[in-house]
Amino acid sequence: MRVLVTGGAGFIGSHFAKRLVAGGDDVVVLDKLTYAGNPANLDGTGIELVIGDIADGEAVARAGAGCDAIVNFAAETHVDRSILGPTEFVHTDVLGTMTLLEWARTTGARYVQVSTDEVYGDLEAGGRAVEGDPLRPSSPYSAAKAGGDLQVLAYVRTYGVNASITRGANTYGPNQYPEKLVPLFVTNAFEGEPLPVYGDGQQVREWLHAEDHCAGVELVLREGAPGEIYNVGGEDHANLEVTHRILELTGADPGLVRHVEDRAGHDRRYAIDDTKLRGLGWSPEHSFGETGLRETVEWYRANRDWWEPIKSGDYRRYYEEQYAGRLQG
Ligand code: NAD
Ligand code: DAU
Repeated sequence: MRVLVTGGAGFIGSHFAKRLVAGGDDVVVLDKLTYAGNPANLDGTGIELVIGDIADGEAVARAGAGCDAIVNFAAETHVDRSILGPTEFVHTDVLGTMTLLEWARTTGARYVQVSTDEVYGDLEAGGRAVEGDPLRPSSPYSAAKAGGDLQVLAYVRTYGVNASITRGANTYGPNQYPEKLVPLFVTNAFEGEPLPVYGDGQQVREWLHAEDHCAGVELVLREGAPGEIYNVGGEDHANLEVTHRILELTGADPGLVRHVEDRAGHDRRYAIDDTKLRGLGWSPEHSFGETGLRETVEWYRANRDWWEPIKSGDYRRYYEEQYAGRLQG
């Protein structure tokens, strides 16, 4: 199969592109190379990279020529950046998704939309979201992702596009841009910089290894039914628990932990039921608590040449805007 992987120069998309190639598929990546896109993530793979915007129909047609399927990882993905400015989120996550769906409609290609558990919003203790639950997104990011999901479902129903949706949990692993909790705290710990915990740090997320996330998406690509949604779950841990484990694994000073002003609209808990995907034969191979986080910390320890250049320039400007006031306050 020849597959167009959009956002394939980013974190999860690059794992996915490499996984398909290792399994014998032919892959072309379409990526705009925003701050989060990094061609080095595809180094040595020989995978064709087309630089372009998923909201540009001509770029999509050029990259997609000859493809049987498209898997859409391209998105603006960071909640904190969406709070600073949502415009790019709507452009890519809604308009971009619709542009890809148009291409799938005209070519008849199979389509998988990589979405997020954040579209279900805050979950009460005890409950777990199932795929048919109402969408209650809290942030401009998750609202944009929910908009993309609704476009997908509309294209299935109205035009008969052969599309499915995955909704994955918080993903960690090698090659994650150091703005999200795990890579930010791991690299800050190595640099002796503060670890800025929002609020009381008792927010709960489900942690899913990138390889397990990609295995779920691949299964849905091959076996998923049109119009169906599949949750891809992880392991529940509170942020403060993750923070203390990172301190242990990096050997950093516990005095680096700072409780700072909370994220606006911060969801307390995400939790999803992934029984439906397990019914297709998926189960995770990595345990966050046992090996997954340790191996990830070791990857960042061994690959400073990957992340040190990123933590300069535009990254510094973002970091100052997001954290300077919080860390002083
Ligand atoms: P990322 O931020 O690491 O990478 C996103 C990629 O998309 C980058 O390579 C970027 O250059 C590219 N991109 C952005 N806008 C584009 C545009 N307009 N046209 C073409 N390319 C564009 O993201 P990630 O963490 O790997 O997430 C990938 C997907 O998985 C996203 O759709 C995200 O919503 C979803 N997801 C992520 C997580 C997570 O915890 N990281 C969890 C669940 C779902
Ligand atoms: O749940 C899936 C989602 O997971 C994906 O759709 C998103 O693309 C991905 O970014 C992630 O969203 P979160 O907002 O949950 O991830 P983040 O790493 O930004 O934050 C995880 C938790 O850690 C959250 O409760 C906020 C908290 N946090 C985060 C940062 C960056 C802090 O306490 N301090 C921080 O500096």
